[in-house]
Amino acid sequence: MSQVLRDARRHEEEKEVFIDRKDRPKFHLASRVGWMNDPNGFSFFNGKYHLFYQYHPYDSHWGPMHWGHAVSEDLLNWEYLPVALAPDMPYDRDGCFSGTAIEMQGEHVLMYTGIVSDIDENGETHHLQTQNIAFGDGINYRKHEMNPVIDASLLPKGGNKYAFRDPKIWREDGVYYCIAANDNSEHSGQILLFSSMDALNWKFEKVFLSNDRRFGLMWECPDFFELDGEHVALISAQDMLPRELEYHNGFGSFYMTGDYDKATHTFTEKDNHAMDYGIDFYAPQTILSPDGRRIMIGWMQNWDSCSVHSKFTPWFGQMTVPRELSVKNGKLYQNPVREIEAFRHDRVEYRDVIVDNAEISLSGIKGRTVDLEVELESVDENDIYRKFSLFFAKNSNFSTHISYRPEEESVKIDRKFSGSRRAIVHQRRAFVRENRGKIKMRLILDRFSAELFVNDGEKVMSATIPTETAADEISFYCRGRVRMNIVKYSL
Ligand code: FRU
Repeated sequence: MSQVLRDARRHEEEKEVFIDRKDRPKFHLASRVGWMNDPNGFSFFNGKYHLFYQYHPYDSHWGPMHWGHAVSEDLLNWEYLPVALAPDMPYDRDGCFSGTAIEMQGEHVLMYTGIVSDIDENGETHHLQTQNIAFGDGINYRKHEMNPVIDASLLPKGGNKYAFRDPKIWREDGVYYCIAANDNSEHSGQILLFSSMDALNWKFEKVFLSNDRRFGLMWECPDFFELDGEHVALISAQDMLPRELEYHNGFGSFYMTGDYDKATHTFTEKDNHAMDYGIDFYAPQTILSPDGRRIMIGWMQNWDSCSVHSKFTPWFGQMTVPRELSVKNGKLYQNPVREIEAFRHDRVEYRDVIVDNAEISLSGIKGRTVDLEVELESVDENDIYRKFSLFFAKNSNFSTHISYRPEEESVKIDRKFSGSRRAIVHQRRAFVRENRGKIKMRLILDRFSAELFVNDGEKVMSATIPTETAADEISFYCRGRVRMNIVKYSL
């Protein structure tokens, strides 16, 4: 084991004892200490789910990347394991960037991007990016002597060796495939496909997907899978331009559905949509669970707003709740993994509650670790209510709310009064069409986050909130008259 890895392992062990469990999310994986970004190496190995993450243990801000590591049997109770990868080799000495994992002949195999500072022909410093492999037993990993297994020599013409990262590896019909993100000579993202018989000797196959500057500029963290008879590509894009409420400025993750011709590795795009319409979501990864579900987890943060927290925070960065994906009518649906049902307790139910131009609260409905489902419909079909709002993480000083305006066919999340002291994005909206006031909203709260699943996962909105946990009230407001059915569980 290298000294760099040993130091990181000792550091996280020493520092984590200063973090009270109650100051962390309860069932969302957060950084053990220091900083976390992308989920990495999401996989099932030796009877457990493994989740690694981009990790800078020494500071709550981004720095030389390590891979943090945690395991879980139910995707909600996570146990930290020691740092898995540290930047300790000539080809990754400035960072171990994102990647994925698979099982190979009983071993756990990580494929990741190694970063090395390099000075280009104009004298400017860039990060040279190559793809590397590490084999392990689920705790300790040894980087392969053939690393880097994919380097700039395999890039197609115009491919930028300083923007070439985030390999997603999978096996199909006895062949290993890998897709990785790359920038081309037009400063536009592309996804490259490589193949290998042994995961060590790789061959460039083709440019699998091209951005042509339609969705931001550089692309990152690709994923690709078949689901419910469709093929789906997930991509996270930098520098997006807004498109109605579909895409917003900055960093954004989106999916494309398409047809896939396996023989020629050709993906023909059909449709595209945002993955999450809230404020904090990026770099998702998926796995196929042992029982055949496609499960996704994302980083619940945004690069444009994540650097504004205090330097003294002992941890920063958390994942979304793991979400089961499905495709219905060509659209991707997301719902919290069903494992959450075993987590629920203290059920409270209300039926046919009328809110008539008022704000009300209901006995037993409060908390900051909550699974709350609210079904709404207009009391009068001919006089649809104007606005419904659900306030939560609330006390006399703070609150965050979700509101639905049937006439505008939109749902909004607003954390302006959540305790944030920064001029960052605090609101986002999503269209929810043709419901005439009939809508189903499921809200998952876990102390410092809110995830809203609208109409059984048709639209999702995620946001982190800095609010003190004592702010645990929930209330319901309506301009007009609405009928509500409510089921609430504590988590
Ligand atoms: C995405 C990303 C990846 C990269 C990692 C670095 O959030 O920029 O492309 O591998 O973060 O931490």
